[in-house]
Amino acid sequence: MRTTVGIIGSGPAGLLLARLLHRAGIDCVVLESRERAHVERRQRAGILEQATVDALRAVGAAQRLDAEALVHDGIELRWNGRGHRVDFPSLTGGRRVWVYAQTEVVKDLIALRLADGAPLFFGARVHAVEGADTDRPVVRYTHEGKEKTLTCDYVVGCDGFHGVARDAVPATLRRTFERVYPYSWLGILADVPPSCDELIYAHSPRGFALHSMRTPHVSRLYLQVPNGTDPADWSDRRIWDELDTRFAVDGAWRLRRGPITAKSVLPMRSSVTEPMRYGRLFLAGDAAHIVPPTGAKGLNLAAADVVVLARALAHRAETGSADLLDAYSDTCLRRVWRAEHFSYFMTTTLHTDPGRSDFETRLQISQLDRIASSPHAAAELAENYTGLPLPHA
Ligand code: PHB
Repeated sequence: MRTTVGIIGSGPAGLLLARLLHRAGIDCVVLESRERAHVERRQRAGILEQATVDALRAVGAAQRLDAEALVHDGIELRWNGRGHRVDFPSLTGGRRVWVYAQTEVVKDLIALRLADGAPLFFGARVHAVEGADTDRPVVRYTHEGKEKTLTCDYVVGCDGFHGVARDAVPATLRRTFERVYPYSWLGILADVPPSCDELIYAHSPRGFALHSMRTPHVSRLYLQVPNGTDPADWSDRRIWDELDTRFAVDGAWRLRRGPITAKSVLPMRSSVTEPMRYGRLFLAGDAAHIVPPTGAKGLNLAAADVVVLARALAHRAETGSADLLDAYSDTCLRRVWRAEHFSYFMTTTLHTDPGRSDFETRLQISQLDRIASSPHAAAELAENYTGLPLPHA
């Protein structure tokens, strides 16, 4: 098979890129190793920045989002038994975020691609990307028990942290910067209306807790747990009791309990691979960078990468110039490192590091007090949380 752009992976990066290219009249093929049902069930974060929503709207993929997403104008931080609301619009000149699960974005984009009759193959396992440094890179994969090749003008690796695309960049030409955190998150979904209108990020001596939501009837909550935790060790009752303790605040607030429908443990990692390009192979989303979920940046960074890349590929098709493709890695990495810093900041400010000293705990509290008392400090958080504008072409 032959195509202009071969896309490996049908997470949000691969699917949004496919949609952007389709709209620009550039043909592409998406290869996904998993089956559709698996891809549509994967639970990920659920906060969309303005730029992500703009991108989905621009390609006609926001119909359900606009009908169902919850628009949030702030978050609450909790520590030392008190809560402080960070108001986004007043601190950022009107920006806000949308609560809409990544898995719903994925479902919407898959439905559109299939309705267009555009190529998207599930169960297509890629083994290798060859000739990335030539004019005709080739993707080798297995589909329906047969070995196949996809010959491309460009290949884009949207296949995540464990994918094959990153390994197609020679080890001598890439560098990975990484930090692994000494804690994980235990995430639950519960059939109970959220106990808050906006997300609550709680610092507590027993560890971090986050109250998020999926719909007016479904809550999503997280607890910091030690690495290696087995979710089976956490009964429903133990989870609710621990959440109660960590969210405790002076005043009348109460956490509603309900049936827990899913439990999973997520490790926390920060990682950036540079550069995000080798010849005609481009890396996007988690294939190039990972953020811990505390800043809710993963999906938004992936969307930003592919918006930049789609623009560069369209520019190449229209003008013959590869200037924007040549700038892709640098353009993305500037924004990526900012989001890495913000995610690291949120993570280390709110979590209880098992190796911490009392000195470090005092610094965390001092930083949270500062956000509560200085509009400048609060605006820094709000600007980063709601997302920096995309770079201009
Ligand atoms: C989520 O709703 O899953 C979520 C929200 C905010 C975060 C992380 C996860 O920072």
